[in-house]
Amino acid sequence: MTDQLSAAEKAKFICAKRAVDFVQSGMRVGLGTGSTAAWLVRLLGEEVRNNGLDIVAVATSDRTAKLADECGIIVRSLDDVKWLDLTIDGADEFDPKLNLIKGGGGALLQEKIVATASDQVVVIADASKDVACLGAFPLPVEIICFGWETTKGLIEEALESLDVRGRSVTLRMDNDNAFVTDEGHFIVDLHLGRIGNARELSFVMNQIPGVVETGLFLDIADAVVIGHQDGRVEVRDINTGEIEHEHIDVVTKDNMFMDLG
Ligand code: A5P
Repeated sequence: MTDQLSAAEKAKFICAKRAVDFVQSGMRVGLGTGSTAAWLVRLLGEEVRNNGLDIVAVATSDRTAKLADECGIIVRSLDDVKWLDLTIDGADEFDPKLNLIKGGGGALLQEKIVATASDQVVVIADASKDVACLGAFPLPVEIICFGWETTKGLIEEALESLDVRGRSVTLRMDNDNAFVTDEGHFIVDLHLGRIGNARELSFVMNQIPGVVETGLFLDIADAVVIGHQDGRVEVRDINTGEIEHEHIDVVTKDNMFMDLG
């Protein structure tokens, strides 16, 4: 069955598998959103069902909550749990300081709230997400539906004076309709090419009234687990500077593939 996984999917699988080591019984764990985080949820579900792992989870999206529940993981609201020991989530890009672009899957707002409420944040990502400078991946910005065209115009105006290479802004679509987040907002994607000053960009965007939040996660992540297509896994801890290398074989059970499209 593992032969059915593409090389890219294997890289996601192995970083998720290594990240399971961060989770201990008794923890309150934030579960990220996206294809890499989905592997983590399936693997944690196996630990809960087969090895007695005892955790309470908070999901960062409706789809992650549904998957976690199907996998046998107890899911609670953040309001119930209030603070988390650990959150593990994917990323669209990460830079050498472990600043991130997130929100490719549209869950950036809940992801940022959950990550910020966590003692430790671990990013899981395949090596293609490792960049010297953020910005090749379009930056998602969640905005209020009311007056969205005005907000988009204000974002475009603000970008004129910021250190970025590109300045095109597009409304994210879901077929013929605007994409709507779990929180009922729209997303605009900022095609910046290169972000020269992520901190300034983040600050300026958050001053615009219709902007809810950006997909820039600055100084939030503590470590990244990077999966390579040949089975190598690298763990970088941004606080200690430690880097670990290992090799992980892809061994899965057939039932882990049941919900794959
Ligand atoms: C979801 O909104 C995103 O932040 C994801 O974490 C990010 O897009 C990574 O997704 P993949 O693991 O599917 O690449």
